[in-house]
Amino acid sequence: MTNPRRNGLTSVADQSEDELGGAGSVLWRQRADHADLDALMHAYDAEPDADARGRIVAEFGERALRHAFAEETVLFPAYRRHLPGDDDELTAHIEGDHQQVNELLQDLQRADPASPGYDARVRRAFEVVRHDAHDEEDDLLPRLQQVADVGELRAIGAAWEAARRASPTRPHPKVPRRPPGNVVAGAGLAVSDRVKDAVDAALPVGSARRAVGRGALAVTAAAVVVAAVRRSLRGGRAGRRR
Ligand SMILES: [Fe+2]
Ligand SMILES: [Fe+2]
Repeated sequence: MTNPRRNGLTSVADQSEDELGGAGSVLWRQRADHADLDALMHAYDAEPDADARGRIVAEFGERALRHAFAEETVLFPAYRRHLPGDDDELTAHIEGDHQQVNELLQDLQRADPASPGYDARVRRAFEVVRHDAHDEEDDLLPRLQQVADVGELRAIGAAWEAARRASPTRPHPKVPRRPPGNVVAGAGLAVSDRVKDAVDAALPVGSARRAVGRGALAVTAAAVVVAAVRRSLRGGRAGRRR
């Protein structure tokens, strides 16, 4: 089946795992992550309790931000390298959508899930994420599939997963959406976000020990990010040798 963009390409939504290059391919990883995001959006729709909805939005937000970071730091630069004749209108458009999602998630992070306007902002974020997934599955990924072989798609997939794991976990709308700015800022923010996540999970709000805990955990979090970046570099080199 061809996709609704009428670009003559088959959407990755309509291809088998084998056709997409297997489970390690960036095409398969992207589609699987979009499906997980979609499941969280449906879970929100089915949940009547405001606090539970807030927890789903927090999980959705972290997953969406990690996904977008992997796209902005690995997938889109790879797309632009493989299709140098194309103008970058498509990746610029999707990066604009990511910017909107960052801003909406930052607002939602500070908002009470029971407050007026919360649901409307959540639904706007969902709408942008769904639109974004269609742009990628129907257009960007099939175009990349035409010019990259399976070894390259798997190497991009390995680097994509390493970036997703090492990504910041909180919205940062002021950070650039393109390398090198997002890579440089992302490494430090990933550390500080994990410290905040870990301390917020372990200690009560307002506790004086939170500041102390954040300092101690920074060292561990930095080691996690450095290891992930090293794995990504090793994966990229291995992919090129294949
Ligand atoms: Fe995206
Ligand atoms: Fe995506």
